[in-house]
Amino acid sequence: MSEDRVIVITGASNGLGAEVAEHFALKGFRVLIHYLNEARGQAVFDRIAAQVDPGRLMKHQADVGNREQVRAMFDAVVDRFGRVDILINFAGINRDAPFLELTDEMWDSVQSAHLKGHFLCCQEYVFHNPDRPGAIVTVAAACGQIGRLNGANFCSAKGGILALTKCLARELAPRIRVNCLVPGSVRTQEVIDRYALDTKEGLARELGSLPMSRLGEFEDVNRIVECMIDAEFTTGASFYVNGGQYMN
Ligand SMILES: NC(=O)c1ccc[n+]([C@@H]2O[C@H](COP(=O)([O-])OP(=O)(O)OC[C@H]3O[C@@H](n4cnc5c(N)ncnc54)[C@H](OP(=O)(O)O)[C@@H]3O)[C@@H](O)[C@H]2O)c1
Repeated sequence: MSEDRVIVITGASNGLGAEVAEHFALKGFRVLIHYLNEARGQAVFDRIAAQVDPGRLMKHQADVGNREQVRAMFDAVVDRFGRVDILINFAGINRDAPFLELTDEMWDSVQSAHLKGHFLCCQEYVFHNPDRPGAIVTVAAACGQIGRLNGANFCSAKGGILALTKCLARELAPRIRVNCLVPGSVRTQEVIDRYALDTKEGLARELGSLPMSRLGEFEDVNRIVECMIDAEFTTGASFYVNGGQYMN
């Protein structure tokens, strides 16, 4: 079956976003690779463009917390591909610290990349897709429900994204479905570094909390995201890909 849908993937210059972008490009989707860091964005674009028709790919730099830059990104994808069908929101950062050491800047930058970024990208996506069926994948974390040490800024943003997902699912139904991916312990460099998973002790500690006794792999995420965008009777739902570490 030919695939003609257009996907915008934010945070596609690293980690999960880069892998999901490659997965959908290989499946024939037209993909906008969004990035903040030029060198990382270019490297992912080149890697994927070497495997598919580069005419079906584009890249765009934007700070997801900036309205003008986000709007320009959606203008660009509609100019180039004629429409946008799906939005997947992987962009985000961690700035961990104990609560009493969090600065205003650490709070604002994390809220901006995650919660405001979701708000702006979702709203501009709908403005640029005014009448076609569509799907949005938001991205949260289990700590948005249960909290964790040293992440009051991050967990608050992720909790906000879980609530935002349900609000948008109600307001945008039935035309646009909105579902939330909740990854955990998936083997990205960011997670390896933050939890010292490249040390014997760090890895043992993490595996001890995972009923599945292994870290998540990119294919685990690709499989669920693919299901999320095509699950036509599902909206406002959370999809956990976390080896059973947190069960809702
Ligand atoms: N991996 C896991 O197990 C796990 C667990 C829970 C939640 N998550 C969530 O899943 C998402 C992806 O995680 P990851 O591990 O793949 O992260 P990652 O490797 O650190 O990638 C983050 C991406 O976000 C982009 N980004 C950061 N701040 C931005 C901003 N202000 N504007 C635009 N882009 C920005 C980065 O762009 P540049 O590289 O171009 O700067 C990068 O492409 C995040 O929301 C994360 O919280 C992941």
